[in-house]
Amino acid sequence: MFLDIVKMPLKGTGGLDYGCRIVRIFRMNCFLKVYGCQMNAADAHLVSRLLAEAGINQVSGSNEADAVVLLTCSVRQRAEDRAAGFARTMRGEGKKVILAGCMGRLRGKELIDGGIADFVLGPDDYRAIPSLVLGKSALPQRPSPNLETYSDLLPSGNNPVSASLAVMRGCNNYCTYCVVPYARGPERSVPYADLERQIRHLLDKGIKQIFLLGQNVLAYHREGMEFIDLVERVARLEGLERLGFLTSHPRDLSREAVQRMAGIPQLLHLFHLPLQSASNDVLKRMGRGYGIAEYEERVAWVREAFPDTYLTTDLLVGFPGETERDYQLTLDAVDRIGFDFAYMFAYSERPGTRAADMGNQVAVPERKRRLAQLIEHQNAITRRSAERLVGAEAEVFVTAPAPRGEGAMLAEMKNTRLVILNHNTRLGEKLKARLVGLAGWSILAEPC
Ligand code: SAH
Ligand code: SF4
Ligand code: F3S
Repeated sequence: MFLDIVKMPLKGTGGLDYGCRIVRIFRMNCFLKVYGCQMNAADAHLVSRLLAEAGINQVSGSNEADAVVLLTCSVRQRAEDRAAGFARTMRGEGKKVILAGCMGRLRGKELIDGGIADFVLGPDDYRAIPSLVLGKSALPQRPSPNLETYSDLLPSGNNPVSASLAVMRGCNNYCTYCVVPYARGPERSVPYADLERQIRHLLDKGIKQIFLLGQNVLAYHREGMEFIDLVERVARLEGLERLGFLTSHPRDLSREAVQRMAGIPQLLHLFHLPLQSASNDVLKRMGRGYGIAEYEERVAWVREAFPDTYLTTDLLVGFPGETERDYQLTLDAVDRIGFDFAYMFAYSERPGTRAADMGNQVAVPERKRRLAQLIEHQNAITRRSAERLVGAEAEVFVTAPAPRGEGAMLAEMKNTRLVILNHNTRLGEKLKARLVGLAGWSILAEPC
């Protein structure tokens, strides 16, 4: 509990002014913890705003908290286990636990029955969080209509020069391994007018770089606007210097869109194109809607249009029925394509998804073996991709103080590759730098 001393005006009947008196207000202290993807990270800013508007004090550690709000993820079992473990510890310490987000939607009642949380709610019910923290109301009675976009809320972030904004929510793809469509509900795009208002608000606050987010952002469509139309329009807004987007489903990337993107000077040269597997059999059973040849064709379009592309991907090994040969095809494709970076996962059965009911589940130790070998393989490629840059010059955009190192700053190249800049300067500044070497995985840069 947090004690606030405030001056309250005293008004008599008929508006007579009796001066002021000093009163003490007890404010709830709330700790917000976030798991999962960029979408959850962006949602955390919405929840922070809702908490602040309700007069709830947000604290940076759980020790002083009366209530804990968790924005959870269910994409893999490990993500659920971590959140459940933390929630149990917090309840053990006598704190009120509100478990929100994807796991809240999917596990609901079983978390309450299991004594893991006091309240659970899904990604479309964040507006209920402040009253639950304050103990003013119970959960929303009606099931959520699955159409929430929060587009009336003005976003606030914690980086003064860079922000993310969800332009669409939910997913209709139902890849057979994935829980997101069940957790986040059907796909819905935010009307352009709402997005422009939110983006102008961010630009007015000094934001220069914006990432447009969606589980499948290329599928944005609203009022006759497709994603590429949206990108072109947003890029024209005064004050926006850098514009990125995440995450793209390779199936939805067209050659025409890539060519139009090449004409947008503000666009960041980052393409995150999750491949998952390079075996056409596996891709088919995953329901991804592309084969490896089509995927590589898209990579070629992107690299042709943006020669300095930072190409990243997601890879998933140990999907049901993945043979050693299927897995080798993925290793071969990783060599051939040369991703600059990859997020790599071992398949995790998700209850309710179609893949969980497939035969031929790969034994868990074998999934882990394949993952460990893939990581080793890709790490060498990631390293070579960074080493190739040493000696080059690049324009960098300064985004944050470096976590360690006196006066050093974190900065991003045009393709979002991160460098540690040995120079103390303002956030949001753009300057020319020489890439001088590597320290571990980080690229070191000096101003030219
Ligand atoms: N919308 C994004 C993915 C969101 S989930 C897209 O389509 O690319 C992020 C990544 O988690 C996926 O790309 C996949 O590689 C991984 N993932 C999803 N479900 C998984 C599961 N059941 N087990 C392991 N990894 C999974
Ligand atoms: Fe999941 Fe597929 Fe939707 Fe991505 S596109 S969120 S992997 S169902
Ligand atoms: Fe996880 Fe939900 Fe994101 S399941 S990956 S937090 S959409």
